[in-house]
Amino acid sequence: MKILLIGSTGQLGREIIKSSPNDIYLITPSRLEFDLKKTKECYEYILNLSPDWIINSGAFTNVEKAEIEEELAYKINALGPQILAKALSKSGGKLLQISTDYVFNGQQNYPYKTDQKVSPINKYGFSKAKGEEYIKQYLPSNNQSNILRTSWLVGPNGNNFALKIMQLLNNRDEIKVICDQISSPTTTLSLADAIWKTIKKNEEYTKKNKSFPIINHFCNDGLASWYDLAVTIKDICLETGLIKKAGEIKPIQSNEYPSKTQRPKYSVLDTFKTKKTIGLKNSHWRNELLKCFNNSSPLKI
Ligand SMILES: NC(=O)c1ccc[n+]([C@@H]2O[C@H](COP(=O)([O-])OP(=O)(O)OC[C@H]3O[C@@H](n4cnc5c(N)ncnc54)[C@H](OP(=O)(O)O)[C@@H]3O)[C@@H](O)[C@H]2O)c1
Repeated sequence: MKILLIGSTGQLGREIIKSSPNDIYLITPSRLEFDLKKTKECYEYILNLSPDWIINSGAFTNVEKAEIEEELAYKINALGPQILAKALSKSGGKLLQISTDYVFNGQQNYPYKTDQKVSPINKYGFSKAKGEEYIKQYLPSNNQSNILRTSWLVGPNGNNFALKIMQLLNNRDEIKVICDQISSPTTTLSLADAIWKTIKKNEEYTKKNKSFPIINHFCNDGLASWYDLAVTIKDICLETGLIKKAGEIKPIQSNEYPSKTQRPKYSVLDTFKTKKTIGLKNSHWRNELLKCFNNSSPLKI
C-alpha cells in the first residue's frame, strides 16, 4: 500500500513514521516538497503519485498566531485538505485527516460526540472545521473520507506543552498555568498507533462492503486541566530524574493569562464509539505520558 504523509516533520508526523508497518510504502515529503499552500502543485503531485492513502498531519498549529495570520491558517488548514480531497476524488485514494477538539466551543459539560455539530470559537478551530467540511464535500463516498479528531498532543519531540513545561520548570522558580480549560492530553505515540489501526480497520470494512465512520475521535482516557497536566509532568520529571530541580506551579484562570485568543473551556471528545469500532484499548493519559518518558527517545530538555 502506497501512503503519502503530509506533515512528516511535525511531532505527530515523526511518530507516524517511527511506528509505520513494514508492508507500507511511506512517502514523506518535506514542506518544501509538498506545500499545502501551493494547491496546483499539490494536486499534480497527488495525481502523479496516485497514493492509496494520504495521511494529513500537516497544519498551521499555532493557535495564538492563527488569530493574526488568519488567511494563512485558512489556506493551510482549510484549502489544503480541500485540494487533497479534490485530487483523491479523481485519483481514487483515501484520506485520513487529523483534526482537533477545537472545532467545538467547549460550552457543554460532557464529552463531544462524533456526530455533533461543530462550533469553533477561534480562527484555528474555524480553519480546521472548514477543512473537515471540504473533505466531506469532495469525498462523500466509499469510505474515502476519514477525519480523526484528537486533543492536547504531547510527545517526546517537537513543539509541545510537555517539553515547554519541562524547560520552564527547570529555569524558573515559579510558573503559572491555566486551570480552567479541560480536555484529554494525548500522546503522539498512542495517536500514531491509532492512525495505523484506523487505516487497517477501514480497509477491512471496505473489503466487506461495510461503511466506515467518517468522523472518529481518539484521545487518551481521563481528563485534565493544563494545570493538572503540568503538575503531572513535574512529578514524572522529578521521579525519573529528567530534571533535578523544579519551580512551583501556580494555577491561574484563563482571564489572568495574557492572550487575545478564546479557547474552549471543556473540549473533551467522546472516544467510546471509535475505540470500539477500531478495537483500541483504553489507557489513561498519565500512563501514556510515562511511556513517552520510558521510550527509547525520552523527552529531552
Ligand atoms: N498539537 C496539538 O495539541 C493538537 C491537538 C489537536 C489536533 N492537532 C492536529 O494534529 C496534527 C498534527 O499536529 P502536530 O502537533 O504534529 O503539529 P506540528 O508539530 O506543529 O507539525 C505541523 C506539521 O505541519 C507541517 N506544515 C506546516 N505548514 C505546512 C504547509 N503549508 N504545507 C505542508 N506542511 C505544512 C509542518 O512542517 P514544518 O516542520 O516544515 O513547519 C509540520 O510537519 C495537526 O493537524 C493538528 O491540527 C494537534
